[in-house]
Amino acid sequence: MQWLLVIGIIVLLYSSLVGLLNILFPEKHLDWDNINTDVLNFPETFTWGVATAAHQIEGHNVNNWTQFEDRENKESSGSACDHWNRWQDDHNLLVELGVSSYRFSIEWSRIEPNQGDWNEDAIQVYSDMIDSLISKGIEPMITLHHFSHPIWFEEKGGFYQQQNISYFVDYCSRIFPYFSDRVNKWCTVNEPDVFSIMGYHMGMFPPGLRSPLKAIRVMKNVMVAHGEVYHRLKHLNPNSYVGLAKNVTIFDPYRRWNLLHWLTTFALNYIWNGAIISALSRGKMYGKSVTKVKNSADFIGLNYYTHVLTSPFLPQTTEIDLPSRSHETVTEFGYPMYAEGLERATKWLNKLAIPIEITENGVADGEDSLRPTHLKRHLWVIADLIAKGVDIRSYYHWSLMDNFEWAEGYSMRFGLYHVDYENQQRTLRNSGKTYQQIISRHNK
Ligand code: GAL
Repeated sequence: MQWLLVIGIIVLLYSSLVGLLNILFPEKHLDWDNINTDVLNFPETFTWGVATAAHQIEGHNVNNWTQFEDRENKESSGSACDHWNRWQDDHNLLVELGVSSYRFSIEWSRIEPNQGDWNEDAIQVYSDMIDSLISKGIEPMITLHHFSHPIWFEEKGGFYQQQNISYFVDYCSRIFPYFSDRVNKWCTVNEPDVFSIMGYHMGMFPPGLRSPLKAIRVMKNVMVAHGEVYHRLKHLNPNSYVGLAKNVTIFDPYRRWNLLHWLTTFALNYIWNGAIISALSRGKMYGKSVTKVKNSADFIGLNYYTHVLTSPFLPQTTEIDLPSRSHETVTEFGYPMYAEGLERATKWLNKLAIPIEITENGVADGEDSLRPTHLKRHLWVIADLIAKGVDIRSYYHWSLMDNFEWAEGYSMRFGLYHVDYENQQRTLRNSGKTYQQIISRHNK
């Protein structure tokens, strides 16, 4: 009979522990049928924007990505949206939408194609872009590293080698003064988490490696690089507003009664979110000191897309569909549509006590059947957070137009504008019109 007692105690302890975890870490779901997402109240000062990245739209870049596309026989980015030749027209799309800010990235491989080889013509084009935006009343926000960099930097080992950080820091310090008289908002790096894990653990971004330890090392080096760049830029212009874009993915246990799923959830939340927040708030990451990273951001950019339901058998490639709750709508990317997670994402970021800029949020939806709802739900959550006192200053929708979606190539369409890649024609989608109306209502 004694063993029955032992089993009873174990069951009791296990269920109390799991019960407690369920209370402490709830997976919030709202009843969207009873929420009117047409009522959105934002402060007048709120910044409405859209975001893009150089390699995804410019066309004909020569960088670590094109090298990877060729080597791995991936879909080639090719002409992309031919934005390098059509940027003037594309700026008119921004005007048509009515946005007051535009987040884009400048391509290191265009500016410094060979080490020390400084391409003044390319710099001039970016400078013209900035002037054009300003003349249209649109505030530029520049990202200095959005997943792509020159081949020479990749061949030296990229961010895997700590000694290479200085190349990036030097490049940033040198390019910044060209634009800093006109550009105030800067993102040093885009998503250190996605960049390192997709490239070094999932093997789906260059250099296509599959080693969790390498991914962690790269993530740390990218954060150190961010810290260095932050201090350099602030030294050059103390008034500039410098931060980074952090992808916050929420990990939830797939089976909420399974302790192993909880353990995986905690581990992944720490690796993906906690380590970077800890670097910025405490100057510590994976047990190592990253002192210059502490307090190295005037704002934190939030890129929010989804939550991931976690178990120890999580797929090791994004090509396998992720699990979802039965009531959740699954998007073309395989992500559950989970706007509630944006609120949970801000809880991570609030630890930093600095302004939050939503630097990316959007959905792959070629038919545009989900995007209007997706957009309004996320904006509803943001408006609600602002009303509760969370300091969120902007929203940059991903993306202005369909573009080259990294590992997924052209199959995933994230644009408010549809792009016909045969003739490069852009067409405003219904979701684009929805966004346009929301912006115009608030800018009156
Ligand atoms: C982000 C990335 C963007 C875009 C988006 C959509 O991780 O920063 O460049 O690709 O995902 O998947």
